[in-house]
Amino acid sequence: MSKVLSAVAWPYANGPRHIGHVAGFGVPSDIFSRYMRMAGHDVLMVSGTDEHGTPILIAADEAGVTPQELVDKFHRMIAEDLCSLGLTYDLYTRTTTRNHHAVVQELFRGVYENGYFVEQTAYGAISPSTGRTLPDRYIEGTCPICGAAGARGDQCDNCGNQLDPHDLIDPVSKINGETPEFIETQHFFLDLPALAEALGAWLDEREQTGLWRPNVIRFSQNILKEIRPRAMTRDIDWGIAVPLEGWRENPTKKLYVWFDAVIGYLSASIEWARRSGDPEAWRQWWNPAPSGADEPVSYYFMGKDNITFHSQIWPAELLAYSGKGSNGGKPGHYGELNLPTEVVSSEFLTMEGKKFSSSKKVVIYVRDLLSRYQADAFRYFVAVAGPETQDSDFTWSEFVRRTNDELVAGWGNLVNRTANLIAKNFGQIPAAAELTDADRAVLDLVDASFGTVGDLIERHRQKQAIGEAMRAVGEVNRYLAETEPWKIKDDPARLGTVLHVAAQCVADLNLVLSPFLPFSANAVDRVFGGSGEIAPLPRIEEVEDLDGGAGYPIITGDYTGAPAWRRTPIAVGTPVSKPTPVFTKLDLEVVDEELTRLGQ
Ligand code: MF3
Ligand code: ZN
Repeated sequence: MSKVLSAVAWPYANGPRHIGHVAGFGVPSDIFSRYMRMAGHDVLMVSGTDEHGTPILIAADEAGVTPQELVDKFHRMIAEDLCSLGLTYDLYTRTTTRNHHAVVQELFRGVYENGYFVEQTAYGAISPSTGRTLPDRYIEGTCPICGAAGARGDQCDNCGNQLDPHDLIDPVSKINGETPEFIETQHFFLDLPALAEALGAWLDEREQTGLWRPNVIRFSQNILKEIRPRAMTRDIDWGIAVPLEGWRENPTKKLYVWFDAVIGYLSASIEWARRSGDPEAWRQWWNPAPSGADEPVSYYFMGKDNITFHSQIWPAELLAYSGKGSNGGKPGHYGELNLPTEVVSSEFLTMEGKKFSSSKKVVIYVRDLLSRYQADAFRYFVAVAGPETQDSDFTWSEFVRRTNDELVAGWGNLVNRTANLIAKNFGQIPAAAELTDADRAVLDLVDASFGTVGDLIERHRQKQAIGEAMRAVGEVNRYLAETEPWKIKDDPARLGTVLHVAAQCVADLNLVLSPFLPFSANAVDRVFGGSGEIAPLPRIEEVEDLDGGAGYPIITGDYTGAPAWRRTPIAVGTPVSKPTPVFTKLDLEVVDEELTRLGQ
């Protein structure tokens, strides 16, 4: 048993989240966390809403509200959506809590005291027409490294390098097309070159494990070659104050949103511990284990545009705070902090062949999808056809086809047939008499899926994992087609045996599928006389800020009730009544309806 940190990317509070977002970080992290708990690990799954930075300011301006009003609204909305998807966060919080601010400032102080910040004059962009500072990501130009057009001031999506707006060739403001003016301004730069060696050693060691997806490790090693100091402060009035004299009081100097957001993984773990009644409990997931004990492990889930921040900036902050770069130093209050075990990055989801874009209305928001379709149908689509290791496309016709032909006709049909036959012939789980070779073969095959599917999930190969589970579903359907229990008339012992075997297989596969399909796992469990609580679900809770700030909603839950990841023999005599179908078959007209909604 290990301590497993599931660290899930923090969505920006600048709008509702669309299905592309949750396909990348949300569903995969939940599938992994659910499985790891069932496999006996002590999982801490944390995340929250990312509420600082220029994207928030811009959206607030557009909406004519204050940044605080904006983030209050969208934090709630995003939390509700993630909860409706069944994502089992131990704590889903936000970055405007006092706890988060304090943890971020402690990290800043630690990094500063260890000598990994350099104060430097930099060029800040301002809009000549308004005189206001222009956020990095709202400046566009040609990438000075790879020459691609359309690079943003913070990052080039073509080569992945982080950029400074001042280095862009022919920079223009995305807001109004004007050429920005650059003025001198003071900032704190993270001394990444002093951490490069330690980062490189860590990446090499990670590479040896063979765990990371090849493109993620390659990308991470590549960006190390261009390493240079990066500004961790901004000329902006919304964010976390720089905790140094002369800076703290300055209303227009704040910490860079990415410096603060990644610290959320730690601050949320600390908040979770404080709320749990054991304020030091977070250490078991973050500090090196006492000698002899298993080291804790940590998995970070995100879309590929976040890799740089998780495989370079965040580990650099952790190393600097722990005093492990070439400038030396010693760990701060929190002690030595562990680096990520694995950065699990997905690729992008497109929609009907196009990039998601709220402004161009190529979008479907999580809440709209969930108002019309079952969460599990969407979770199934993501698991089976999501952007796990390459970009993938969401189309309504494929969504309908997967739902009807695979979920309903495959798994739903197996559940219904089995339950119907049992209800009609016995009204309860029948006993098995002597088993034939065929009975034993199907039982063994299904039992083996715990091993194969679990192993694949643990290695973040969820597509293959659900493929294996559905293959086993197909085998059990075939077993029924071959044994034809509906034709067994005068042999109740044989009929009982076949249906007992089928019910055992359904119970097993229901566990195996439960990380993917938690809502239907509970429904299936109920059909077979269970309490319908095998897949724990999260809830929204309104809480007080721990340090006197305003209250806010969180996602949390008690996830200890999930059964173990192995066969549990079904109990003969458990009542089974005629089921109502667990999955909804979709009308083919759904496709046209939805395309019309999209205006296509
Ligand atoms: N808000 C960022 C985005 O949506 C992700 C932040 S992940 C973090 O791209 F944990 F680092 F905050
Ligand atoms: Zn580039």
